[in-house]
Amino acid sequence: MCGIVGYIGSGLAAPILLDGLKKLEYRGYDSSGIALLEDDRLKVYKKVGKLDALRNELAFRNFYATSGVGHTRWATHGRPSDENAHPHVDCQGRFAVAHNGIIENYLTLREWLISKGHKFRSETDTEVLPHLLEEFYEGDLVETVIQMTKKIEGSYAMVILALDEPNRIVAARQDSPLVVGLGNGENFVASDIPALLCHTRNTYILEDGEIADITAGEVIVTDQYGRLVEKNIFEVKWEASQAEKGGYDHFMLKEIHEQPRALRDTLSGRIDPGESEIVLSEIKMTPEEVKNISKIFITACGTAYHAGLVGKNVIEKLVRLPVEIDIASEFRYRDPLVDESSLVIVVSQSGETADTLAALRESRRRGAKVIAVTNVVDSSIAREADYVLYTWAGPEIAVASTKAYTTQLTCMYLIGLYLAQIRGTVPGTERKAIIRELKKLGDKVSVILNNCAAIDSFVDTYKNAPNAFFIGRGLDQTVAMEGALKLKEISYIHAESYAAGELKHGTLALIVEGVPVIALATQQDLFEKMVSNIKEVKARDATVMAVAMAGIEEIEKVVDHVLHIPNTHPLLAPVLTVVPLQILAYRMAVARGCDVDQPRNLAKSVTVE
Ligand code: G6P
Repeated sequence: MCGIVGYIGSGLAAPILLDGLKKLEYRGYDSSGIALLEDDRLKVYKKVGKLDALRNELAFRNFYATSGVGHTRWATHGRPSDENAHPHVDCQGRFAVAHNGIIENYLTLREWLISKGHKFRSETDTEVLPHLLEEFYEGDLVETVIQMTKKIEGSYAMVILALDEPNRIVAARQDSPLVVGLGNGENFVASDIPALLCHTRNTYILEDGEIADITAGEVIVTDQYGRLVEKNIFEVKWEASQAEKGGYDHFMLKEIHEQPRALRDTLSGRIDPGESEIVLSEIKMTPEEVKNISKIFITACGTAYHAGLVGKNVIEKLVRLPVEIDIASEFRYRDPLVDESSLVIVVSQSGETADTLAALRESRRRGAKVIAVTNVVDSSIAREADYVLYTWAGPEIAVASTKAYTTQLTCMYLIGLYLAQIRGTVPGTERKAIIRELKKLGDKVSVILNNCAAIDSFVDTYKNAPNAFFIGRGLDQTVAMEGALKLKEISYIHAESYAAGELKHGTLALIVEGVPVIALATQQDLFEKMVSNIKEVKARDATVMAVAMAGIEEIEKVVDHVLHIPNTHPLLAPVLTVVPLQILAYRMAVARGCDVDQPRNLAKSVTVE
């Protein structure tokens, strides 16, 4: 997965491309490059490392090109290196291609092209693309792209610059996102909207199979057969500043602090004024259809999967239907028992995760109805699902997901309560009580954010710890998984989560003097059992930091540090419990000098399987 940009107009292309790539660095940052048309030549500049390495190298050069393409990479085929960085060019340097995705049949194509005399310089799958263009080109770039896309299998978003046709850039999409930005006498293309926002709010969201012929004056979109496609302009409503750091040191910290607002936005318009009913006009199922659901499946990846785990517990409890949960990359390979009576919920911040999209398609193929819970309007997952519940978290830039998770949890509650309301599985008074509490979550997150100083001394003491353990029972166990993921992905401390009752079946062997254990104890009905598990690790001299609800004083007697979260309904506790864990991971990463927003080897959105 990578970020791509393209520009054509009368402005200077190089700074526009580099700025656009900066906004897309969350998609990949192990190498980058740009290609420009200058002096009747295609000039390509590429550099391994973060984008700044390329920017520094180009800093004192004067470019006057007014068109070009660029790329920031997250390696799949071929290690990060100058040679493997994009854009890639053909033998004669006439076509430069920036690509996001995977060309699955590239080995066969590469062998065929080599047999035709083409010389390859990189280990990437992408390099077949410029060579294919060179092989097929007969004077019209769009025609050639149409012909080429018939030969390639896999996923792609690509932007192409051609020496022989300096007045156009051509972009094509299949299973990887691509947005065209419509300017005045200039046009843009990029993997994601933040790269376009400082230039224009008017966009065309390209669909699978579409090809955009982009000149300074117009953008013509065709399908893969060359037929004209009438595109509607999608006007971006959010502000460019929402995709900036806004005074915070890191995007992650900003996004953690945006949660109170984000939670309110998720709920906005979805609760009736009497606070007794959930209104989900997006889910256009008849009451009959809701009553006929026999089973629910949830599928997602990474943090979204962790939100799904909470969803499974919550929906089963509220709706009294069996809910299965799968990691999306496993879902379709295990031949799940999904049929016309199933409801499938896919969760994805970006709406572009390849495995989640594939799980969605498989579910629909089997006749199930699919609800997408996603943050990105008009993303592939949003477009292909039967119903979409947007999380309205606003752009999430940091690789480590925070506000997306808590807003996804909120959507899980909304779906659970909504289905329960129709199926009559939760008494009205209880539903009302949960809804009231749901509305207070934003304020309660603010309380936590203003009171987490205790985390600092813990961070100071344990910033060099090689391992950390997160334990919990019931819903706390699912939050423990998210806490461990946050810590390991940004601070590189090895962190594991366990169902607290399971420790004694093996992992207790790793608990020795001074090992930090983060114990989540917010679930009242499991509290006594949790205290026993805490005592087990204390007896092995672990240092324990607990997260518990306000007013639970007993916990202080058994642990070393306590972080109290405001009281709430136990089902809703995960939204609050995770917040100190996000802060813990963030402060640990900062204390260890890690690159918080761009952790090594990771990327924000994984559009390859
Ligand atoms: C990547 C990101 C995670 C995210 C996961 C799923 O691994 O680094 O933060 O949770 O993808 O992404 P999605 O966009 O589908 O929620």
